[in-house]
Amino acid sequence: MSLQPHGGKLVYSYNPEASYESIEKEIQLDAIALSDLELIGIGAYSPLEGFLAKEDYESVVETMRLSNGTVWSIPITLPVADEVVATLNTGDIAKLTYDSEVYGLITINDIYTPDKKVEAKLVYGTDDLNHPGVQKLLERPNTYVGGNITLLKKAPKSFPAYTFEPKETRALFEEKGWKTIVGFQTRNPVHRAHEYIQKVALEIVDGLFLNPLVGETKSDDISAPIRMESYEVLLDKYYPKERVQLGVFLAAMRYAGPREAIFHALVRKNYGCTHFIVGRDHAGVGDYYGTYDAQIIFENFSPEEIGITPLKFEHSFYCTACEGMATTKSCPHDATSRIILSGTKVREMLRNGEIPPSTFSRKEVIEVLIKGLRQEVHS
Ligand code: ADX
Repeated sequence: MSLQPHGGKLVYSYNPEASYESIEKEIQLDAIALSDLELIGIGAYSPLEGFLAKEDYESVVETMRLSNGTVWSIPITLPVADEVVATLNTGDIAKLTYDSEVYGLITINDIYTPDKKVEAKLVYGTDDLNHPGVQKLLERPNTYVGGNITLLKKAPKSFPAYTFEPKETRALFEEKGWKTIVGFQTRNPVHRAHEYIQKVALEIVDGLFLNPLVGETKSDDISAPIRMESYEVLLDKYYPKERVQLGVFLAAMRYAGPREAIFHALVRKNYGCTHFIVGRDHAGVGDYYGTYDAQIIFENFSPEEIGITPLKFEHSFYCTACEGMATTKSCPHDATSRIILSGTKVREMLRNGEIPPSTFSRKEVIEVLIKGLRQEVHS
């Protein structure tokens, strides 16, 4: 018996046969909405069946729940430009297009103007324009269109061998005989700290679903193709093959810290995970969130309504006295023994031509990153 999807039913609204020739209304999607459309259609965002209408939107922003009470922490919205809004009415069916290709249909049941300042403050915890999520929120058009969607076409995939739908990962986990599966979200190469917490988790669950996010990220994050190569070399050399599955997560990064941790966990539940790793400053950026805010937020909900177990990890580091990875929970030494490097610091070192120590990142990973960054500079 596999794990229940969020809200009880795995949504699936992909229908490549649906006809749209007679439909004239059109909404052009941006990259975030394109990925959200597909993620709704394949059930990754179950129980969402479309872009949020006002009642659900306000409920999510204010209470982290849909209007029926189901936990949902990030508003999934379809912002539409004013000149297009002027052509739309509730009850219309509109084509959802990207680069002139039709990817879906929406049955419009709401057109509304959100209070983005409130959305920024409640969802991101700040309305500071320097926050990349807030910046993106404010850049997008000011009117939202809500309604259920049909997914007509899936976007071309950069990593087809690692792209799975929730129903596929669920089948895959069952085939492997995994009863407990821990999901791992990342937007970075897997460094020693990530590896450590994944492997501690692997001591208590059957399988690891390494699920790096490959949707839109901020420009100074390491690009997805370089990261994917780094995961491949690492898994090849340091992980038991029969206990790990690599698969990409198509969503855009919101950098919404605690709220995004809840969202990330619920979505991984839909992919069939029973556990989800939440470490230090999950989905954070700069110092907008406290180190463990993304763990504390889970206390607002009962385990039943989240339905996936968060595995909360302390900030981990390499300790030269212990000669291994540790956290304050397992290591008695002081800061002078601890090698703490952030992903940001590593990117900085690499861009300055410095080589991060193997206590921070495996040498195979560093080699891939150096090669990748060189190619980026020359392209
Ligand atoms: S995220 O934005 O995708 O969360 P990142 O790729 O850095 O960022 O982190 C992936 C996961 O590893 C998150 O759950 C994060 O909290 C956790 N993590 C990252 N670095 C550490 C660390 N040094 N110690 C403990 N957990 C960490």
